[in-house]
Amino acid sequence: MSANDRPVTGQPTATYDSAFLKACRRESVPHTPVWFMRQAGRSLPEYRKVREGVPMLESCMRPELVTEITLQPVRRHGVDAAIYFSDIVVPLKAIGVDLDIKPGVGPVVGHPIRTRADLAQLRDLTPEDVSYVTEAIGMLTAELGGTPLIGFAGAPFTLASYLIEGGPSRTYENTKALMYGDVQLWADLLDRLADITAAFLKVQIEAGASAIQLFDSWAGALAPADYRRSVLPASAKVFGAVEEYGVPRIHFGVGTGELLGPMGEAGADVVGVDWRVPLDEAARRVGPGKALQGNLDPAILFAPREAVEAKTREVLDAAARLEGHVFNLGHGVMPSTDPDALTRLVEYVHTRTAR
Ligand code: CP3
Repeated sequence: MSANDRPVTGQPTATYDSAFLKACRRESVPHTPVWFMRQAGRSLPEYRKVREGVPMLESCMRPELVTEITLQPVRRHGVDAAIYFSDIVVPLKAIGVDLDIKPGVGPVVGHPIRTRADLAQLRDLTPEDVSYVTEAIGMLTAELGGTPLIGFAGAPFTLASYLIEGGPSRTYENTKALMYGDVQLWADLLDRLADITAAFLKVQIEAGASAIQLFDSWAGALAPADYRRSVLPASAKVFGAVEEYGVPRIHFGVGTGELLGPMGEAGADVVGVDWRVPLDEAARRVGPGKALQGNLDPAILFAPREAVEAKTREVLDAAARLEGHVFNLGHGVMPSTDPDALTRLVEYVHTRTAR
C-alpha cells in the first residue's frame, strides 16, 4: 500500500481530508498546512505551568498530561497538525534502559552501549510497555476532531548516538569509532533499534496517529557514502515495517542537505528539510514523487515581524512548484521564542497561500 491509498486504520473523513494529510499525499490543498517541530514545549507559558514539578520523562507517561500538552499549540496557534507529546528516548526507557532527560542538557544514559555485551540492554518493545501511549492517543484523537495527529520516533542512528555517547555530543567520536571500528556490532545495534522504533511507531499508528515522523536529527554528521552504507538500511527497515498502514511517513534531520536523496530513498513520503537548502533545490535533490516539509530558520522568529514575513515569502516562493509542501521550521521551536510570533506565522502562511 502507498500513502495515496486510504489507510488501514480507521480515521474520520475530516482527518483524511485535512490540508496536512492532503499535502503529504501531494494532493491539492485549500492552503499550505503548517505545524512546528517542538510546537509543544517551553515557548508556551501554559506548558511551563502544567509541567511545574513534573520531570520530563514522567510527564510523557501521564496520558492526561500528554493530551493537554499536545493540544495546547493546536488551541493557541491553529496549526494544521498536532504532534504527540513524548521524546525520542521514551521507547528506550520503556524497555528498561537506564536513562533520564536532564533539563537544559537532554537525554543522559547510565551505561553507554560500547560492546556486544551492552546490547543486552535492548530487548524488544511490546505494546504493553507503552500502554500509556495507546491510552493518550485514544483521548487525543477524540479531542482533535479533524486535526491529524503525528506520531514520531527517533531514527536508529540518532538513538544510537545517545546510547553510545551516553548523552548529547557535537562530535560523535564514540559513535563513529564503533561505526567504523566494529561493522558487525554497529549493524546489529542499528537493526535492534530499528525493531524497537518500528514497534513504537506501530503502537502510535494503531492507536490513531494519522502520520509519522522519523527524527534522524543528527544524521547530518555523516558523509553520504557512510549514511548509505551504515545507516540507511536500518531506517529503511523502520519505514518498511509501517508501510502497510498507508499513513504518510516523514523523514527529518538537521544539516542533511547532502543526504536528502538517500533519506527519501529510505522510504519516506515526505522529506523534512532544514533552513540551509532552499526547497526548490531540495526538491531537485530528493527527486519526484515525494512531498517536502520545511524550512524557515527557527532563529528568524526573533526578528521583527516584517523580516519574518519576508523570509516566509522566500520559503513559500521556493515551494511554489513542489508536488506537496508542508510548512514547518527547519528545526524545533526554540524555548525563548515569543509564542505570538508563531501564531502570526500560521496566520500569515494560511492567508498568503489560500486558494
Ligand atoms: O512538540 C513536539 O515537537 C513534541 C515533543 C518532542 C520532544 N522531544 C519533547 C521534549 C519531540 C518531537 C522531541 C524529539 C526529540 N528529542 C529529538 C528530535 C527532534 C530534534 O529536536 O531534533 C531529540 C534529538 C530529542 C532529545 C532531547 N530531548 C533533547 C535534545 C532535549 C532538549 C534538552 C533541553 O532541555 O534543552 C530533550 C528534552 C525535551 N524533549 C524537552 C521537550 C519539550 C525539554 C524538556 C522540558 O521541557 O522540560
